[in-house]
Amino acid sequence: MANNHITWHDSVVTKAERQDRHQHKSAIIWFTGLSGSGKSTVSVALEKALFDKGIHTYRLDGDNVRHGLNQNLGFSPEDRKENIRRIGEVSKLMVDAGVLTITAFISPYATDRDGVRNIVDDGEFIEVYTKCSLEACESRDPKGLYQKARSGEIPEFTGVSAPYEAPSSPEIIIDTERDSIDASVAHIIDYLEQHQYI
Ligand code: ADX
Repeated sequence: MANNHITWHDSVVTKAERQDRHQHKSAIIWFTGLSGSGKSTVSVALEKALFDKGIHTYRLDGDNVRHGLNQNLGFSPEDRKENIRRIGEVSKLMVDAGVLTITAFISPYATDRDGVRNIVDDGEFIEVYTKCSLEACESRDPKGLYQKARSGEIPEFTGVSAPYEAPSSPEIIIDTERDSIDASVAHIIDYLEQHQYI
C-alpha cells in the first residue's frame, strides 16, 4: 500500500561511482525456466566464475529466498507475483550497490518478469531463458517434486498443473539439454564481455 508520508532521500555516492570503483557494470542476470531446468546449477557456476574474475556478484535463488524473506509466500499466481516483485526490488537495490546480481527463480509469468525489467534502467535486466523440455526436467526430477505433482501431492506445480510462459525475446538463451554447464557459463560471460558489462 502506498504511503504518502515518506520522501526519498538521495545518497551522495552514486551508482556510477560504485561501478567505477568496481571496474564493471551492475545489472540483474535473471534466470527463468522450469523447475529442474538447471537455473540453480548454471547460476551457481556463473557466480563462481564471475567471482574468480574479481567481480562483485551475488546470487539470489528461489528455494533459498523462500526460506527467509519470502517464507510467507506460496505458489498461487498472486504469491508468485509478490515473490518476483520482492526479488525485483531487492535486486534493484543490489544493482544500485554496484553488484552484478544473479537471480534464479522459475518466474513463470512474463508480465511479472517484465515488471522487474521496468523498474531498472535500460540494459540492467538481462533475461536468461534456461531452456529445457518438460520431459527432460521431469526425467531429471532432482527433488522428486514432479512425481509428487503428478500424483496430486503438490498442487499448482509449474509445467504440470500451473503455467510456464517462456520469454519471447530474452537477451540470452541457454539450452541445458544440449550444452554443458561450462558451455552455458561461457556463453553468458561472452555476452557480458561483448556488451561491456565486465
Ligand atoms: S516462482 O514460480 O515463484 O518463481 P520459485 O523459483 O520462487 O518459484 O520457487 C520454485 C521452487 O520451489 C522449485 O524449484 C521447487 O523446488 C519448489 N516448489 C514447491 N512447490 C512448487 C510449485 N507448486 N511449483 C513450482 N515449484 C515449486
